[in-house]
Amino acid sequence: MLELLKKRRSIRKYTNEKVCDEKILNLIQAALFSPTSKNSKSCEFIIVKDKNLLSKLSNFKPDASFLKNADLGIIVMGNSLLSDVWIEDASIAASNIHLLSQEIDLGSCWIQVRNRNYNENTSSEEYIRNLFNVPENINILAVISVGFPGEQKDPLTEENLNYNKVYLNSYLNKYLK
Ligand SMILES: Cc1cc2nc3c(=O)[nH]c(=O)nc-3n(C[C@H](O)[C@H](O)[C@H](O)COP(=O)(O)O)c2cc1C
Repeated sequence: MLELLKKRRSIRKYTNEKVCDEKILNLIQAALFSPTSKNSKSCEFIIVKDKNLLSKLSNFKPDASFLKNADLGIIVMGNSLLSDVWIEDASIAASNIHLLSQEIDLGSCWIQVRNRNYNENTSSEEYIRNLFNVPENINILAVISVGFPGEQKDPLTEENLNYNKVYLNSYLNKYLK
């Protein structure tokens, strides 16, 4: 697991290779195996494979355009009527999709939707809601872009670890000195 966590990076460039249905199913399984508070199973997902729709989706905020070059996008959503902590539930599912992508040789990136804007008048969530017919009680957390990696990134190392943010028994006492 630690080796996987070191190799996991945000990949924003993709090749044209198609992601097979078996891998897509694996990503869905990673999402649905994720824990939810009180086992509410508050998360829902839209798999976006259609190139035209993916291109429209990539306009949901100014810096998400790399999404149109991914093979697919996974819209991660949470039902706020089923859980008051749908954000946490959906975040764990999104993270598990991102991690499993690495494990099955895909590249992926979390693209934030919640609290982001399409333009001055329309939130990113509203833009996506309209495009994909998402009902009002379903909130949108993020889109995960997925494809075969078109860029290589160095794995994380010990130098990336902020051990100074870890304390022992009190905030006044660093865990590692
Ligand atoms: C909650 C969250 C939101 C993120 N939103 C975006 C985003 O909107 N666009 C993007 O390109 N990357 C986004 N990322 C990816 C981060 O930029 C990335 O994880 C960070 O820079 C560290 O790089 P690494 O993932 O390659 O280690 C997000 C990551 C997280 C955890």
